[in-house]
Amino acid sequence: MLEHGGNLHHAAQRYGIPLQQWIDLSTGLNPQAWPMPDIPASAWQRLPEDDDGLDKVAQHYYAAASCLPVAGSQAAIQALPQLFALNRTQLRVGILSPAYAEHAYAWRRAGFKVVPLAADEIETQLNQLDVLLIVNPNNPTGYRFEPAQLLRWHQQLVARGGSLIVDEAFMDSTPEKSLATYTDQKGLVVLRSLGKFFGLAGARVGFVFAEPDFLHRLADFLGPWPISGPSRVIAIAALQDRDWQARARKGLQQQSQRLARLLTDKGLPPTGGTALFQWAETAHAESIHRQFARQAILTRLFTQPCSLRFGLPADEQQWQRLEKALTELNYMNDCSDALCEVAG
Ligand SMILES: Cc1ncc(COP(=O)(O)O)c(C=O)c1O
Repeated sequence: MLEHGGNLHHAAQRYGIPLQQWIDLSTGLNPQAWPMPDIPASAWQRLPEDDDGLDKVAQHYYAAASCLPVAGSQAAIQALPQLFALNRTQLRVGILSPAYAEHAYAWRRAGFKVVPLAADEIETQLNQLDVLLIVNPNNPTGYRFEPAQLLRWHQQLVARGGSLIVDEAFMDSTPEKSLATYTDQKGLVVLRSLGKFFGLAGARVGFVFAEPDFLHRLADFLGPWPISGPSRVIAIAALQDRDWQARARKGLQQQSQRLARLLTDKGLPPTGGTALFQWAETAHAESIHRQFARQAILTRLFTQPCSLRFGLPADEQQWQRLEKALTELNYMNDCSDALCEVAG
């Protein structure tokens, strides 16, 4: 299994610091999560029902014609290559790199030839590809593709029987840039997540948007009851809470800018970012990651390229601790790839 952020128990054990003392900046989850409602007992007791309104609410929030709720977008990431199973050894799958590593892992594991592509290589390579997979905005680089460009690439791929898949897990702060609205078109698949913007990663809810025929095949592959009853209740309420969403959009943007300013002031200017994280390329990433960890602050370390991702502190006390840790950084040690963890 690939390495990801959020392993607080592991960090607590490794650095010998009690769990409660840690600040987790290793994920890109909203630290001020959507507030949980009371969940009716029936949601735990009865089997989940597909026609409870979740599809409709999601179609409205994401402005899309058809959707399939799944157990986190991760469930779809693992399943998608199976729906392209015909001619798998011949299909060429271009995947943005670096990006959320589970995509390339899933396609390779299913037997496909994966071509890792930097953002500026896609245009010239497009003619060689059958499937193009983009993360937009990208994690961890924060790179953004414009919808018009993605739609143009989609047209080119579809003209040759190909497909475009866009993982929009970090799109909720900029809904106007989403391609979900266009997924009634053949060969376009969009993934969304309730984990990041809503801060509900533990609920394991995500959505796939595509043509109905594609969604039926995916639903068939995933089997019945992919999402638990309580998670469906939460998703329906969170997706309808427009006031909270508007406040979160504004608040996250401000906090992310504050984080970018703080990192810049302390000599770690971000290379990129989104409303939920900032990402800094630095040759000292490994050393900085460890220095923070010794102060019970968990960051996300990447080796390719050597870099760190910082999520948003949850409250003023966490901001103060981050600022203090940044002030006390010692840049003497160099990054050693051998010591860095596997990127993901
Ligand atoms: C870009 C991206 N897509 C998808 C996922 C999976 O998220 P989830 O399964 O919680 O929806 C992640 C998780 O970190 C991610 O970073």
